[in-house]
Order: sequence, then structure tokens, then C-alpha cells
Amino acid sequence: MVSISKQLGKDFAVEVSNIKISPDVTEDDIIEIKSLWSQYKLIIFRDQEITETDLVSFSRYLGDLEIHVRTEYLSPENPEILYVSNVMENGRPIGILSDNEVGWHYDQIYLPKPAVGSLLAAHLLPPNGGNTEFSDMTSAFKSLPEEVKEKISGRTATQSYEAFNKAFSVPTSQEQKKKSPDIEQPLVRTHPITGERALYLCPGMTTQISDMDPLESREMLDYLFEWSVRPEFVYDHQWKTGDCVLWDNACTMHRRGAFDSSEERWMKRTTILAPEELAIPF
Ligand code: OGA
Ligand code: MN
Repeated sequence: MVSISKQLGKDFAVEVSNIKISPDVTEDDIIEIKSLWSQYKLIIFRDQEITETDLVSFSRYLGDLEIHVRTEYLSPENPEILYVSNVMENGRPIGILSDNEVGWHYDQIYLPKPAVGSLLAAHLLPPNGGNTEFSDMTSAFKSLPEEVKEKISGRTATQSYEAFNKAFSVPTSQEQKKKSPDIEQPLVRTHPITGERALYLCPGMTTQISDMDPLESREMLDYLFEWSVRPEFVYDHQWKTGDCVLWDNACTMHRRGAFDSSEERWMKRTTILAPEELAIPF
């Protein structure tokens, strides 16, 4: 039976024990994980020894899996796995995000049906740094001044993968660009399971609040970006060998911290889709 062994963030992020990420997990365990996932937004599984096929099989119990648009960074054997890494093989990076600066972001906020979760497994860690910070955007929204909540509720904003890639990653190919054009999403998102509202924006990809004077939009976004990463909303995950982290991608954003680029870091991620009827953010 899965149990919580520690609460790590203020209102979110728990470490669980008594669970091995494997295809042999029980149905009850999956029910419990799904419930902890939406309740706590971030689950840390420790001391895992997982193969790629285990990671894929286990992730499938949580939902259908996305094949990421950046096909050049997929595992050659298991395309459901995206490599996040600075490791080079045959003169080319095997993974996305390398060791450069990474800004705060929601995975796939730029897609019409963004994934609701990501399961990230530590495969190879640098001796220091390379932490991942997570921000609880439900609490960030809840504690905003009422007049700000009123001002932003019911609005949409532009989300741009291109802007993120320009600032923090490498450009997409023409074909990938066609699959990830700028789009509008609700600025405050209602969680498809809990019904709670969360800020749905991120410094890495949110460029403009729709139907708002550009200057006012800029000021509001800057205010919200700063607000949403206040220390009380952030949990900073310092990775240990064997860690695997599952996050709720409908109400948390994240960013990787710096690490020494002469060290290798290699993470493996599956990307979990929402059930079709809950897939479009509202
Ligand atoms: C990701 C991501 C950060 C990290 O997998 O989506 O942003 O710390 N990873 O590797
Ligand atoms: Mn990410």
C-alpha cells in the first residue's frame, strides 16, 4: 500500500514509500497514486531502479502517453520517453535543455491539449546542482489580492514555444514549428479533477494577455511571474539517485537549476495526457 512518508512543500509535494515503479504495480496502488497526484500535485518516488520499459508501462497506467514534438530527443528504443540531458553521443546532444539556463515553464502550455503530467526519472546526476524547482500555482492564485484575481479571471493569454526556445533551448524545425504555433490559453485554469483554480502562465512562454493594452499586460505578467515564484509557493527538489518525480502539469510550473556543464546529467521523462474529455484547458 502506497503511503506518504514526508510532506516536502508547504501545501504540496509529498514523498511516498512502499511503491516500486514497475508494470507489476497493483490496481489499488494506481488508484492511490492518482488520488495523491491530484491532491498533492507532486509525488516523489525514492530508491527506484527502473528500466525504460518499466517507466513506459507504469506511466501508461496513469494515462495515454504523448510522443514529444522534439523527436530528435526521444529514446531510440522507447519513443514515449524524452531525454532531458546534456550528454553528447556521436557529436550530438541526446536530450533537450542541455546544461544552459532554463526558465520557469509549464510543459506543453503551447499545445491545445497539454499533457496533465510528467514523470521524470533521474538516470545520471551531476554531483552538485541541477535541482528542479516546482511552484504551486493553485496556492499562488488563491493568495492573490482579490482585485488582481478579478482582473485576470476569464482572460486568455498567448503561449509561445518559440519564445521559450529562443531564450532557453534550440530552435524547432519547420515541421515542428507547424505543430506548435503560438496559441491562447485561459490565464486562470480550472483543474480538470479537483476543480481548483490555478495561475496558468509562465515566464518562459507567456508573452501577452489578450485584449489588454500591451503595457498593462507586460506589467501584470511581470507582477504575476514574480508573485508565483515567492518562496512559500516553491519546492526545490534536490535529486538523489533513484528518484522519480511525478508532477501535476495543470497546476505547477517548474525549472531546472544550474549545474557544472563539465558534468553529465541525464533524465528520462514520460509525458501523460489527460482523458480526451478533460484535455482542453478551461
Ligand atoms: C522537463 C523539465 C527539468 C529538469 O522534463 O520537462 O523541464 O530538471 N525538466 O530536468
Ligand atoms: Mn519541463
